[in-house]
Amino acid sequence: MSAEMTSHDPEDHASFIKTPRQLITIVVLAFLVPVVLIILLAKAVVSMRAPDPAVLAPEAVAMRIKPVADVAIDTTGRAAAAAATLAAQAPAPAASAPAPAAQASATGAADGKAVYNRVCVACHQAGVAGAPKFGDKAAWAPRIGTGMDALYASVLKGKGAMPPKAGQPGLADAEIKAAVDYMVAAAK
Ligand code: HEC
Repeated sequence: MSAEMTSHDPEDHASFIKTPRQLITIVVLAFLVPVVLIILLAKAVVSMRAPDPAVLAPEAVAMRIKPVADVAIDTTGRAAAAAATLAAQAPAPAASAPAPAAQASATGAADGKAVYNRVCVACHQAGVAGAPKFGDKAAWAPRIGTGMDALYASVLKGKGAMPPKAGQPGLADAEIKAAVDYMVAAAK
């Protein structure tokens, strides 16, 4: 038995590579198999991380990183806005300034929704700093109870964390009032 073992042992532990051809095969496989495995692994990882393309859309990114409030420095419309303010404060002499766009918004039909979406939305959409949320009836009811004039005055002069004219001195009073009307109408 022991004689048999000793005679077989070297045989058992001998390499299973017997011919040069087998050796070449093994060497090639030893090189190729890990490479293929790594390629497959890399592919799997890359495909795993592919995010929803909608999330990376420029608009979606801009939405996520946009500041809570906007500062609108409107160089093209600055003269127009000034003219609009003048026109609203002194409605008698129809503003003769060359600002057709501003006149359109200052004369009567100020677009409350547009003003809201441009300025007020920054705080009132999410309720920043205790601002009553847009369309939140419970939050608006007691404020509406104070009367529209009081609400207009709050925005024109500022209240709490809301700066006078919502921080946009270029806005005409008519635009502010239209925006208040729009917000109040949505919370009734
Ligand atoms: C910087 C953030 C901010 C912006 C921008 C803003 N508000 Fe406000 N607003 C507030 C906060 C905060 C309050 C609550 C103030 C309080 O009651 O102390 C408020 C309250 C109000 C009220 C209720 C006032 C009252 O008397 O109860 C009205 C109306 C209003 N905002 C209208 C507007 C309009 C219209 C605009 C856009 C032209 C605007 N807000 C923009 C922060 C903002």
